[in-house]
Amino acid sequence: MSGEKFEVADDFLTIGRTFAEYRRMFDLGVEDLAGREILDCGGGAGAFTATAAELADRVVAVDPLYGPPPDALESDLDAAIEYNVAQLREKRDLFVWDVYGDVDTRGRYLRAAAERFLADYATHPDRYVAGGLPDLPLGDDSVDLALVANLLFVYDDRLDREFHAAALRELARVARDAVRVFPLHSLDRTRSGYVDPVVDSLRADGHAVSLREVPYEFQPGATEMLVIEP
Ligand SMILES: C[S@@+](CC[C@H](N)C(=O)[O-])C[C@H]1O[C@@H](n2cnc3c(N)ncnc32)[C@H](O)[C@@H]1O
Repeated sequence: MSGEKFEVADDFLTIGRTFAEYRRMFDLGVEDLAGREILDCGGGAGAFTATAAELADRVVAVDPLYGPPPDALESDLDAAIEYNVAQLREKRDLFVWDVYGDVDTRGRYLRAAAERFLADYATHPDRYVAGGLPDLPLGDDSVDLALVANLLFVYDDRLDREFHAAALRELARVARDAVRVFPLHSLDRTRSGYVDPVVDSLRADGHAVSLREVPYEFQPGATEMLVIEP
């Protein structure tokens, strides 16, 4: 982490997923959301917070990206989507297309998520908190469920093992019931080498940790989420 509290958003792809994708990535049922307090950590330009807020008691997204006015974010988000779609077109054979069907549909998901995010970010700025792992601006046990999608393990080339251990301990500090992390594969398309040592250290700290299959696959073989029950 080169001594910084959190990486600047520019080092990461600032796209976001829809609520439908989050439901599959985290195998979420209505019972996981209704009346609950939820954190989307590294929420990016995602629609989860906006949509889950219709069911949940409170949803907060934390990301170093947040803070600037919506207009100032829009062109960067568009550029990130175009970049991601172009990359997928080039590398389409490296992914599993059961969920999206084709690259254009995946592009539509990304645009729908960004549009919903920007509208909600403008109307409910209180839901979007600037900050980042490993020091979250939230109190102990302040949410029921914390979700982390497409951040930890994915970027294990720039976030080291100590960062992962500290980040997961921090998430376990703020979540009362569970932390869920998906996927466990890194950008090199294999399961991150940090998963096993980090699971061992969380267990040594006394946390219950399990790996669960989810009904979502985009990177081949990346169908497991990490569940920590603090
Ligand atoms: C690839 S995006 C994933 C967004 C969303 N979770 C999803 O699955 O679509 C990764 C996000 O992590 C954010 N991020 C980068 N460093 C972070 C940190 N230290 N703590 C929290 N979020 C961070 C980035 O700004 C970016 O929005």
